[in-house]
Amino acid sequence: MSLLVTGGAGFIGSNFIRRVAPKSSEPVVVLDALTYAGNLSSLDGVDGFTFVKGDICDRDLLGRVLAEHAIDRIVHFAAESHVDRSIHGPAQFIQTNVVGTATLLEAARAHGVLKFVHVSTDEVYGDLGPDEPAFTEETPIRPRSPYSASKAGSDHLVRAYFETYGFPMVITRCSNNYGPFQFPEKLIPLMILNALDGQRLPVYGDGLNVRDWIHVKDHCAAVERVLQEGRSGEVYNIGGRAERTNISIVKEILRLLQKPESLIQFVQDRLGHDRRYAIDCTKIERELGFVPQHRFENGLAETIEWFRQNDVWCKRARSGEYRDWYERNYRGRKDAPK
Ligand code: NAD
Ligand code: DAU
Repeated sequence: MSLLVTGGAGFIGSNFIRRVAPKSSEPVVVLDALTYAGNLSSLDGVDGFTFVKGDICDRDLLGRVLAEHAIDRIVHFAAESHVDRSIHGPAQFIQTNVVGTATLLEAARAHGVLKFVHVSTDEVYGDLGPDEPAFTEETPIRPRSPYSASKAGSDHLVRAYFETYGFPMVITRCSNNYGPFQFPEKLIPLMILNALDGQRLPVYGDGLNVRDWIHVKDHCAAVERVLQEGRSGEVYNIGGRAERTNISIVKEILRLLQKPESLIQFVQDRLGHDRRYAIDCTKIERELGFVPQHRFENGLAETIEWFRQNDVWCKRARSGEYRDWYERNYRGRKDAPK
């Protein structure tokens, strides 16, 4: 048995590799194109995996990787993941999230993989009013941003492969992650680093948008449970049972860092900004016994500490210097990952 993890040098993928690779009895292969969001130094010091630099839109490469490494299970994290970028440029999201997933599905079907875990998002369900019940797996898909529409497109393709070909897939839909190695374009790491630097903290609109927050280690534990025991053809919601407004999070970060609230700057709202997400995760709790272990306030304090302690990683992430990492570490070496 060999496991392929796409997007393993991104935020959640690298945390997943940290969790599974060192203890795995089967070979683990990471496939990642190392876009701006991929950072191989997030896997520094981690043993037990082989890295392949490559694009999920490259059908020939996928065929070779699946055959050469005798892959029989896939966890698919690779995606364009940032909503603001999707608003400025939807095309790359459609290419990676829809075309890339379609290409991966076709390669996986041809190769005969035994399990395919498609990592999706609660954003495919759309937007909730303040008193509406949380999303369940039965909630109709109603995406509202180019990002969530492209993820919804990929979910539909994965489901269609199950219905049409009996393809052995499971879909997970998780809420907002936070934790170590998150690229500082997303709310929590951006606010932590800006506050540490004494820069303005840009809060969109009135700051009262609500998200459910889960520690990335809890999300990774849930994905591992789904990989082991998730039933084929099923969707599992994953959440942290921690609905918070953006402004309350930003104020909590400032409080923990002992910085003044005058750093907060309300800025123009995100276009089509979803007001609220909330996730009902009773199905994964009941069927797979998954319960998140981190309380949000503790997890946030730990995350702030991680960003304080890992200033080299942070500086490189912010300056873009991490993008040379692959070249610097592997230039001219015969063992360079392909
Ligand atoms: P990320 O942006 O940090 O990482 C994405 C990774 O995918 C990067 O390493 C990037 O190099 C790689 N990648 C992008 N395009 C690629 C391509 N064409 N071929 C190969 N690799 C490519 O994203 P993340 O936050 O770690 O999210 C991972 C997955 O989880 C995504 O599918 C996302 O939709 C989903 N998700 C994220 C969250 C969250 O809060 N971050 C919540 C729920 C679901
Ligand atoms: O819900 C799961 C999704 O969570 C994932 O599928 C996405 O990949 C992930 O990026 C995340 O999407 P969001 O748009 O919710 O995350 P983001 O960190 O970009 O924003 C969180 C909230 O904070 C959102 O309401 C917008 C707001 N925000 C964000 C930024 C970057 C601000 O107010 N200011 C900011 O500078």
